[in-house]
Amino acid sequence: VRIEVALWTRTYDVHVGAGARNDLATLLRVRAPQAKSVAIITSEALLNMPWFEIESDLDQTVLLVPEGESAKNLLSVEVLLNELAERRFSRDDVIVAVGGGAITDLAGFVAAIYLRGIGVIHVPTTLVGQVDAAIGGKTGVNLSLGKNLVGAFHQPIGVLCDSDMLATLSERERLSGLGEIAKCWLLENRDAGALSEMSMSDLIELSIRLKANIVGADEYEGGLRANLNYGHTLAHALEKLALARDVDELRHGEAVAIGLAFAVRLALELELVDESVVANHDAVLDALGLARRLHPKDSIDEIVEAMGHDKKAHHDLSFVLPSEEGFKTVRGVDPDVVRNVLERFRGEL
Ligand SMILES: NC(=O)c1ccc[n+]([C@@H]2O[C@H](COP(=O)([O-])OP(=O)(O)OC[C@H]3O[C@@H](n4cnc5c(N)ncnc54)[C@H](O)[C@@H]3O)[C@@H](O)[C@H]2O)c1
Repeated sequence: VRIEVALWTRTYDVHVGAGARNDLATLLRVRAPQAKSVAIITSEALLNMPWFEIESDLDQTVLLVPEGESAKNLLSVEVLLNELAERRFSRDDVIVAVGGGAITDLAGFVAAIYLRGIGVIHVPTTLVGQVDAAIGGKTGVNLSLGKNLVGAFHQPIGVLCDSDMLATLSERERLSGLGEIAKCWLLENRDAGALSEMSMSDLIELSIRLKANIVGADEYEGGLRANLNYGHTLAHALEKLALARDVDELRHGEAVAIGLAFAVRLALELELVDESVVANHDAVLDALGLARRLHPKDSIDEIVEAMGHDKKAHHDLSFVLPSEEGFKTVRGVDPDVVRNVLERFRGEL
């Protein structure tokens, strides 16, 4: 299956399905006909996976970065830029990112700034990567003061989402991806009941289509794209608090699942939706096996404080919320209301 991301200035395809990684050589021929070299950016663990056979038909080098989030910093950026310069990579050559969201974000950012921008192809290997991170052109790295504080918009020239690569994913990584899939399902106002008729590949495809359509309509997040942050105000705050304790405590999608259950309760409190919408959210999260407990160590005050500092919060408490007229960003929500809903939410679970 090919899903088009139709941007204002150009269009690229997301190839979805078993064996999609084998489309790399063809994609390069069509989208980067002048390329002589490709740099495959990945990690050692991934390089040793049984599915790692990436053939570009070009002069191919592999550049290894640390595993997961620990690769996503400016030190890795500098190391990679130097590697590319030493190998005399030109404007026509291409970076191929093979990995989860951490690697596609990092490699995408390097592609955005090396020689003021070279082509990048994403081959996302996690569910989060396939349904979210690798699509839409947001790239970047973390600073020690916070996640994703440095970055650039840089759209890939193509994305290969190969379901074969997901076979080796741990249960936790799978669940994390399901958190983003739940978000897509709920953004489309779909019923929990219909989930049972969907295969995993149907869910992946549906989520990619939603993201591709939204990015096509609003590449730089001037409006509609903000809806993709549904559930994310609380999620980012919880991730920040968890990260201070232990890097492995909370995966992004796990945090999103909690954020979704909370956001719909806030919408109920603000009289934007009725009880049935809350019940449907709970049923969707249950059906996908997503837990949504607040960590006992997170105090409500700390959570509210962290939400006010979210990069997208513009210094007040803002949330994407469902309403009778659809999803919208609600700014300046009263912190006391947020606190009350959080207290009740904690008690409920
Ligand atoms: N740019 C965006 O729009 C966007 C969207 C969502 C998330 N993100 C970013 O993505 C990152 C999270 O990405 P992630 O959840 O994919 O995690 P990740 O990239 O940190 O990968 C998690 C772990 O899974 C391992 N792994 C990857 N693929 C595997 C496979 N097929 N089999 C076995 N193990 C595999 C990795 O080596 C790593 O240890 C965060 O940094 C987040 O900020 C970006």
